[in-house]
Amino acid sequence: MSQVILIEENENLRDLLAINLKTYVGSEVIPRSTASEAIDLLNILPNVDLIITQARVDDEQTANILLQYIKDNNSDVSIIVNGQFDHVDEEKLIVIQEEKDWETIISTSAQVLGVSIESLEKRVLPEFIPIEIRYFLPLDSSCCDVFIRIKKTATEYQFVKRIHAGDRYSRQLIDKYRDQGLIYFYIPKEYQNNFTNYVSDHLSQKLDEDNFKNIDQKIEVISQSYDIALNEIKNLGFNSATIQLTDSIIKSMISASKNLPEVNSVLHKVINSKSGYLYQHGHMTSIVANEIAKNLGINQELVTLRLAYASFFKDITFVDNESLAKISTFEELESSSVSEEDWDLVFNHALDGALLIRKHPEAPIDVDTIIKNHHGTTNGKGFSINNMPKLPLESKIFIIACEFVRELLDFKERGGKPHPIVDQLYKRYSSPEMIKVIKALEKTLRSKVVKK
Ligand SMILES: [Fe+2]
Repeated sequence: MSQVILIEENENLRDLLAINLKTYVGSEVIPRSTASEAIDLLNILPNVDLIITQARVDDEQTANILLQYIKDNNSDVSIIVNGQFDHVDEEKLIVIQEEKDWETIISTSAQVLGVSIESLEKRVLPEFIPIEIRYFLPLDSSCCDVFIRIKKTATEYQFVKRIHAGDRYSRQLIDKYRDQGLIYFYIPKEYQNNFTNYVSDHLSQKLDEDNFKNIDQKIEVISQSYDIALNEIKNLGFNSATIQLTDSIIKSMISASKNLPEVNSVLHKVINSKSGYLYQHGHMTSIVANEIAKNLGINQELVTLRLAYASFFKDITFVDNESLAKISTFEELESSSVSEEDWDLVFNHALDGALLIRKHPEAPIDVDTIIKNHHGTTNGKGFSINNMPKLPLESKIFIIACEFVRELLDFKERGGKPHPIVDQLYKRYSSPEMIKVIKALEKTLRSKVVKK
């Protein structure tokens, strides 16, 4: 059995590498925290075959120190550096610039250690695949057995069955695991496709039946479905199940405001529900935009539908990091401490959302334009307030709705003295067309203050 020293601060990545190296490459993995700890080990275990390390740990130039040690000692050990690393090419050095690319690390390790790619490919998928616990919240049964993973040793896991296929389970069971900090359940890998279709079908059915006890329960199911749908579409694209689910969610979002004639009370319910930022911003934007359109006399069904689709998909690329959706100006983006990768994600998200919705075969025409314009640019890149006259009316309506809801959510999060949000909108958007749109928003809000 080969021996591998692993220096990786990220606990999840460390576990993932350790289990895969053990299972698929047949290596004994020895985790270490720093270069000096690794060198101490190399001094007693001269037959270590491979070191996998980050370029640096805090201020320590970990990879450089280890590389120097290998050269000074004429050691045969190979070294894989994970992440950006300035270097000159060396025989024993492999740099994987793409950080957290665990599959490349495993396949490279297999090559270094002489494990054939064929045998690796045969076993490349683990027997069980993780499914986020939130997928189980709106369900009450599963189409396959469901397991939890328990750590036996540093690199070995055991899977224990917790839900039997077809059996009913209670919400309390899922809440109990969630409260204990469980992030994933596991299902057998051969059920992966079945399971996601099962979840989508189940949610669509539940939303379409619409026999919720009250609006709060309906909002809860819409928000859970919304998160699942965004995640599935972002990762797997559109298929018949996700298209059907999107359709059911959008219809439910629209009907939620029809059932409660007082718009502000729906906004109030959504903002106070236990749900994520993307859902709250999406649903509230669709309601507010539709109200503005009504007040401007363009309340056809197609406009309502288009604005709802745009609300649903505008920030889909932030599904793994909702807080990025709070950035709404170039100055905020520049002064934030986001990584280069996230900076690009924020800068291009309007265009990315527009390109994605074009792949939806049943989306209303021109939704992509509204999404592309939703931060004021004509090409979907960055943020602007100078292009307003060039944008179509529905884009203008949508921008005002997005900004109003963002301010509302911001106020809810920050607290403090209530301030008139519309006054800020008037200051920011001073062209006559935009003033008309803000006035239409004011008409909706007049004498119906949105309470915190
Ligand atoms: Fe956005």
